[in-house]
Amino acid sequence: MIDTTSYRGPDRVFSGIQPTGNLHLGNYLGALKKFVDLQEAGWDALYCVVDLHAITQPYDMQALPDQTRQIAAAMLASGLSPEKSTIFVQSSVPAHVELAWIFNCVARMGWVEKMTQFKDKGGDNSERVSLGLLAYPVLQAADILAYKATHVPVGEDQKQHLELSRNIAARFNQQFDAPGFFPEPEALIKGPGARVMSLKDGLKKMSKSDPSDLSRINLIDDADTIARKIKKAKTDLLGDMPADVAGLEGRPEVENLVGIYGALSGQSVAAVLDEFGGQGFGAFKPALADIAVAHLAPITADMRHYMADPAEIDRTLAAGAEKAHAVSDPILREVRSIMGFWGAG
Ligand code: TYM
Repeated sequence: MIDTTSYRGPDRVFSGIQPTGNLHLGNYLGALKKFVDLQEAGWDALYCVVDLHAITQPYDMQALPDQTRQIAAAMLASGLSPEKSTIFVQSSVPAHVELAWIFNCVARMGWVEKMTQFKDKGGDNSERVSLGLLAYPVLQAADILAYKATHVPVGEDQKQHLELSRNIAARFNQQFDAPGFFPEPEALIKGPGARVMSLKDGLKKMSKSDPSDLSRINLIDDADTIARKIKKAKTDLLGDMPADVAGLEGRPEVENLVGIYGALSGQSVAAVLDEFGGQGFGAFKPALADIAVAHLAPITADMRHYMADPAEIDRTLAAGAEKAHAVSDPILREVRSIMGFWGAG
């Protein structure tokens, strides 16, 4: 019987963002905004730029250092503070890779082969994809558990990966007779913005890899670009804005725009529809553009400000790595000892 109830460690938050291309509104509402809310609520939290995940697919090694800094800049510009939260780069703390290897020997092949993100990214063509792409969610489990993190704020697309992390934690505890050693981390997904959809297709998530830039609002887009993209956002031919939540049924594009408005304004979907129900998109879209610009423009400006001083970002990340190392090092020592490695005591 797996005993996971006996985990008695502190509550701790961990989450990560890949340095692959531009961050968009989905990353902001699904992840960054939640990170800041948790920080402000006083959680012990680590936020990581996961560069080791970014190399599982072809990438530009010249661009990687600046892309890494850019995610750090977005974290800082969104309101994360290096005094309150630990902000660092995955590859600068060796515990991630070490624990990932150990977890490769704990996780079962069948578990990772089932991951839909792996299949979506070309998992059916085994000559073309790296072994790292298959092991990707195992590294993600290692990221979280190297700090014994208990809570993981993410967008809905990470739900299955978090389930795998829980299975790996439970199996480690059982296999090595260490009840409650690792917590089973809980995904914090609920809330507005957990699944922001493409502006061009309400059934597809907003994504960095969508070939159409009109499908997403990037954090670095200027006000005019944001307004233009929202104006061009797909709606439908089913008439004006519905007056209530039931009226969103079968209208995924409208539901998405209303959801974005609600997430940015801190209002429920019902409250947004109270205000705009019965009006045309000619009234709603400019209001949405205004609120998106008002929310994102200061973040964009701050991001540029941070990016203008890469040396300062590097100092912040180096200090974060030291803090992260101080948390993960004793946990990894215990892992080695539990597993019977030579010299681990
Ligand atoms: P990544 O870099 O693809 O995305 C970063 C975060 O943004 C969220 N997100 C969205 N949320 C709402 N709507 C969307 N359209 C949308 N698109 C992306 C993601 O859910 C994520 O929270 N595997 C992770 C990175 C990772 C990680 C971890 C996360 C590595 N190790 C440990 C948590 C804990 C990823 O690829 O995220």
